Amino acid sequence: MNIIEIKDLSFSYQDEIDALSNVTLSVKKGEWVSILGHNGSGKSTLSKLIIGLLKADSGEIKVDGVILNEESVHDIRRKIGIVFQNPDNQFVGVTVEDDIAFGMENLCFEQSDIIDKIKEYAEKVSMSEYLKKEPHALSGGQKQRVAIAGILAMKTDIIIFDEATSMLDPKGRESIMNYIKEINKAGVTVITITHDMKEAVLSDRIIILKEGRVIACGDTNDILNDKETLNSSNLELLLPLKLQYLLDEANLSNDKVKDILWQLSLNK
Ligand SMILES: Nc1ncnc2c1ncn2[C@@H]1O[C@H](COP(=O)(O)OP(=O)(O)OP(=O)(O)O)[C@@H](O)[C@H]1O
Ligand SMILES: [Mg+2]
Repeated sequence: MNIIEIKDLSFSYQDEIDALSNVTLSVKKGEWVSILGHNGSGKSTLSKLIIGLLKADSGEIKVDGVILNEESVHDIRRKIGIVFQNPDNQFVGVTVEDDIAFGMENLCFEQSDIIDKIKEYAEKVSMSEYLKKEPHALSGGQKQRVAIAGILAMKTDIIIFDEATSMLDPKGRESIMNYIKEINKAGVTVITITHDMKEAVLSDRIIILKEGRVIACGDTNDILNDKETLNSSNLELLLPLKLQYLLDEANLSNDKVKDILWQLSLNK
């Protein structure tokens, strides 16, 4: 069953160029989908349209069988959590704990439940010591951790992560990705918007946007092997695949292999 169905969606900020043009896609219940695309390809715009923060010029969005419109937007937002690309857009409270609580309060969680969940989720993102701090005094990565905790605590059916771990250190990123794996296994539908191919590998399916249009959509393995499409979207091949292509082209002497590995490790 498709939990998200998007048909012929178009949107422009001003009347000039369409930020999204005739986007049609679907996401199955329980699926993990990555949305990839170069800067300005429309990924964040799409996520804002899905949660009804922006209104489409034309086309249709259905969430769990319900068409998104002014009447349904509140119910739909109870089903979708989003971690914004810029964590500053997520913060409204005076303290970190206010911010983790914010989404739960909107969903009318019991006060005692909120208190327990603040603790539980702050711990999951390693921010327990910062609960009384002011959010604006945190580093970018710490803000992202807090934003992630607030959204995870809401326990929505669908979560969109818009480059939500871009400022985290590698260990922090790994631990959040492991947690996303866990919640997805437990049935949460996950959409990750990312430039990191190592993150995209984890998803079931990949959708690539280019200049506001869907240019590729398919199983993760197929898309990650599609060199031309990835190149045309400024996306990187995974390192082992890059290596495979280089080795195919090269003379396979040991020295040559060593040289290629060295060049790759320098990211040249
Ligand atoms: N608030 C805005 N007002 C006007 N134009 C905007 C606004 N936000 C985005 N755009 C334009 O819409 C297009 C899509 O932007 P969007 O932010 O959705 O891209 P993106 O794929 O999320 O990019 P990135 O990888 O940089 O986050 C771009 O051309 C951008 O310049
Ligand atoms: Mg974006």
